[in-house]
Amino acid sequence: MVQEQLIYEGKAKKLFKTSKDEELRVEYLDQATALNGLKKDAVSGKGALNNQITSLIFQELEKQGIPSHFIKILSKHEQLVCEVEMIPLEIVVRNTAAGSFSKRLGIAEGEQLPFPIIEFYYKEDRLDDPFINEDHIRYLGIATPEEVAQIKMLARQINTALCQLFEKIKIHLVDFKIEVGKSDGKILLADEISPDTCRLWDLTTKEHLDKDVYRREIGDLIPVYQEVLNRLEKEYSSC
Ligand code: C5P
Repeated sequence: MVQEQLIYEGKAKKLFKTSKDEELRVEYLDQATALNGLKKDAVSGKGALNNQITSLIFQELEKQGIPSHFIKILSKHEQLVCEVEMIPLEIVVRNTAAGSFSKRLGIAEGEQLPFPIIEFYYKEDRLDDPFINEDHIRYLGIATPEEVAQIKMLARQINTALCQLFEKIKIHLVDFKIEVGKSDGKILLADEISPDTCRLWDLTTKEHLDKDVYRREIGDLIPVYQEVLNRLEKEYSSC
């Protein structure tokens, strides 16, 4: 068997070249991290859950006209994606105050925000992914002002679609992070959307159904992620 070339290894995923130049194989890892890698544990089954959740969500977003790098799921823990030129930004959209927003601005967690708030973080491990603004993005040459406008529009569209998608399965989308890439000059959704990258609260009980159970050590991650996948598969076509 020909050994595929590993081109990237992150905290939760490995990316491999395939026989087709423009396609990559993504392997989701059984690893949980928090505090920018300071807290790290092997969690058996997590990779498969996140791969299945992300695949289902990206397919549902595609149906809503949201373009992404996703091609198809290959196995429980692998998917095929288009190779894109990643933009080194983490784009966070917030509907409800929580996490670093609450801490930074002194707003009680759970306070509903009057409109979705978009934030940018510079994806740079060496600097601990600092919070930056549009002028910083322009100054650092990360993206042009026109691209930033497109990214913000895409982030708002994704937020609207995701809020509806999760509401149907009785989950409130508190906030989430996306990453985007460029292909033929077009901005595409990339990376993942999973309980690792979203804050998801049960609509009735307000129970955390996301990585905060691991970050805050308030429960086991696997049953919570499995619950999110079960609800998604029940409501939407299974992949
Ligand atoms: O920690 P903070 O409140 O800024 O996180 C906002 C949202 O972005 C959360 O849903 C969190 O899961 C996500 N996030 C992420 N990756 C990071 C930082 C935050 O997915 N490196």
